[in-house]
Amino acid sequence: MGKLDGRVVLITGAARGQGEQEARLFASEGAKIVVADVLDDQGEAVAKDLGNGNAVYVHLDVSKEEDWVAAVGSAKAAFGKIDGLVNNAGILRFNELVSTPLDEFQQIIQVNQVGAFLGIKTVAPEIGAAGGGSIVNTSSYTGVTGMAYVGAYTATKHAIVGLTRVAALELAAQKIRVNAVCPGAIDTAMSNPSQLDPEANTEEAAQALDELYRKLVPLGRVGKPEEVARLALFLSSEEDSAYITGQPFVVDGGWLA
Ligand code: NAI
Repeated sequence: MGKLDGRVVLITGAARGQGEQEARLFASEGAKIVVADVLDDQGEAVAKDLGNGNAVYVHLDVSKEEDWVAAVGSAKAAFGKIDGLVNNAGILRFNELVSTPLDEFQQIIQVNQVGAFLGIKTVAPEIGAAGGGSIVNTSSYTGVTGMAYVGAYTATKHAIVGLTRVAALELAAQKIRVNAVCPGAIDTAMSNPSQLDPEANTEEAAQALDELYRKLVPLGRVGKPEEVARLALFLSSEEDSAYITGQPFVVDGGWLA
């Protein structure tokens, strides 16, 4: 018996990184997965790897409402319902607040914050119609503390915590639980861009990252995307977290302790 047997979960940003690990872990626990991303080749490869009948890929730019409507249609055509959502897609840019161009600030809000809002708006009614389920939003340790030079990102990750609390209050009557994961530094392309460079020595870059986080993080290393996926699974599983809603959960190796 898997923890998500019979469940259909849409995961955004699932072509790589944490979203991909969530897709793989949730599928291993029996869920049917809607792999959603803007990276079509990678997303299709992840869905194919999960096996025909277990997953479908949909092109979904989370900042576009029409993409959400189409994705819900595709998910229902493939699996008949949706009763789980992981709002994972996100982007990061480094800039001092006073140097951040307005369009860059707005783009980050559009993807990280509006994207999660549109996910809740479009998918929650489907989860309600299916009899209830879970929504996991992806905030960050910058959703609970400040971090210099990532002001726009930090603002959106704080907003995700607020959105999570309000959605939990408004959706509880439909048996929809809404929580947030707040990862610390996780070894994905976002914090280790060398993963995207075929020329780069990724082993060396990973070691440099570990060296950096050995000093910053009490547990002495950067986090793995699977470790965030484990928390998202816990929050998606009725067996594990039926009485938990409206809360952000930090997974950061003790960085904020
Ligand atoms: P990543 O960069 O590897 O993955 C992000 C995914 O989101 C990619 O597949 C990308 O194509 C997708 N994406 C970007 N814009 C999109 C859009 N408009 N529509 C649909 N998909 C889009 O990075 P990672 O680490 O896997 O990020 C996942 C989430 O975790 C993000 O929300 C990020 O902000 C958050 N996070 C990451 C941390 C880290 O250290 N890596 C720390 C704290 C939070």
